[in-house]
Amino acid sequence: MHILVTGGAGYVGSVSVERLVDAGHRVTVLDDLSKGHHGAVVEGATFVKGSFGDRELVDRLLRDGGIEVVLHCAARSLVGESMRDPGAYYATNVAGGLSLLQAMRETRVRRIVLSSTAAVYGVPESTPIREDAVLRPINPYGETKRAFEGAMAWFGRAYGLRSASLRYFNVAGASERNGEDHDP
Ligand SMILES: NC(=O)c1ccc[n+]([C@@H]2O[C@H](COP(=O)([O-])OP(=O)(O)OC[C@H]3O[C@@H](n4cnc5c(N)ncnc54)[C@H](O)[C@@H]3O)[C@@H](O)[C@H]2O)c1
Repeated sequence: MHILVTGGAGYVGSVSVERLVDAGHRVTVLDDLSKGHHGAVVEGATFVKGSFGDRELVDRLLRDGGIEVVLHCAARSLVGESMRDPGAYYATNVAGGLSLLQAMRETRVRRIVLSSTAAVYGVPESTPIREDAVLRPINPYGETKRAFEGAMAWFGRAYGLRSASLRYFNVAGASERNGEDHDP
């Protein structure tokens, strides 16, 4: 399967790319290197520098590459920064994400897995948090992830997009080659 991994030069993305390549998949990484590292992309994957919000570029990648599924790891993802600069979070995570979904619709790529976050739940009424707990984010980071999840669901209803969201908490762990390499 040919998979487009956005943010594939970042922490979660780079380890995912390693696993996908090991499993025999063809992988194209799209990353603007705003936070990631080119050296984190394994040799077996094709690297493209650019933004998932660049409609022309993404259209071309999806159309020409025979991509069947998108693993969407790229995002702005710092809670504190999102409180100070919500506009940047809406621009990247929501507007950029919508551009990606429109490109997928246009090119008939119908499957996406989102690297979402437990921040979509906000302060839960009970723990452990059930998957179907109410979504009540308390910062723009969580809110913009929730908005994108909503867009994916409505694209599913209207255009047949199939989507899954992985709402995880703070990630730990590494492969032998890659792990967390963040500043801060
Ligand atoms: N690390 C965690 O603990 C954690 C927890 C929950 C959810 N998440 C989510 O998982 C995803 C990956 O997290 P991470 O820790 O690997 O982050 P990361 O910053 O290491 O990786 C994100 C990658 O996306 C790239 N990127 C950012 N904006 C881009 C754009 N517009 N176009 C193309 N590439 C762009 C960055 O350069 C970076 O390589 C994020 O969406 C984050 O919200 C992470």
